[in-house]
Amino acid sequence: MKILICGKGGSGKSTLSVLIATALKNRGYKVLLVDADESNVGLHHLLGISSPVTLMDTLGGKKGAKNKMVKRFSGESPFVNEKWTIKDIPDDCLNRMDGMKLLIIGKIRHFGEGCACSMGVTAKTFLSNLTVGEDEMVLVDTEAGIEHFGRRVEEGCDMILGITDPVYESFMLAEKIEEMAQKAGTPVRFVLNKVEEAVETVMTRHIDPEKVIAKIPRDNSIFMDSLEGRKLGAQILEMDHICQFVEDFKHQ
Ligand SMILES: Nc1ncnc2c1ncn2[C@@H]1O[C@H](COP(=O)(O)OP(=O)(O)OP(=O)(O)O)[C@@H](O)[C@H]1O
Ligand SMILES: [Mg+2]
Repeated sequence: MKILICGKGGSGKSTLSVLIATALKNRGYKVLLVDADESNVGLHHLLGISSPVTLMDTLGGKKGAKNKMVKRFSGESPFVNEKWTIKDIPDDCLNRMDGMKLLIIGKIRHFGEGCACSMGVTAKTFLSNLTVGEDEMVLVDTEAGIEHFGRRVEEGCDMILGITDPVYESFMLAEKIEEMAQKAGTPVRFVLNKVEEAVETVMTRHIDPEKVIAKIPRDNSIFMDSLEGRKLGAQILEMDHICQFVEDFKHQ
């Protein structure tokens, strides 16, 4: 199953990508995390990786990246067999940690280097062509906002998970995500993040309760790990609800 994680900037997409990935791995799944955010560099720190490799770098840069990836991932006859599995991803493109794999599509690093469109196209092609086994889970951490819908990155995914934090703009974006997901024909669910007693009623007023699969409390240890740039160590009970939902959804 492939799950796209999206939401407003700072809502907790990267944090929850790591927490959900870890929880699914602990349930026995083989997990691939895909970092499809071309700007922020926080995700690998949350996994305890200090010098990660990116797909763009291993392909020799953004130019022609999509075709180079297809050639490398799909073997001898790339234009006959444009499909691959996690096992087909060359080892030098992957980062490994705690029994999970991380594929970073690419990062904007240099002044004036041009737009990130080729990264979006590469992410979309990678996900659409990726076949996932019964015992595998793919989680895609996206950039803030909804540009990935414009690039159709969600096309290759089975479910969209919108992360909503207690900020009015986050609720507005959740409405937009729901509308976009409906147009794309991809099921969408929401996780309410940074929930505290004082804000819970307002949050649940804005998001359809039937679409909410978990409420994650504001947790100071998450915040401190992120502040210090270290590996996430939080144990969040609600991850069980999310894993259970994902398993039930998969078997529907
Ligand atoms: N449940 C939580 N409790 C406390 N702090 C949290 C929680 N979830 C996320 N945070 C904090 O919120 C901030 C943003 O989190 P994170 O980087 O995961 O968001 P993001 O949506 O990936 O942001 P961006 O759009 O910039 O990529 C970080 O400081 C993180 O520690
Ligand atoms: Mg992020």
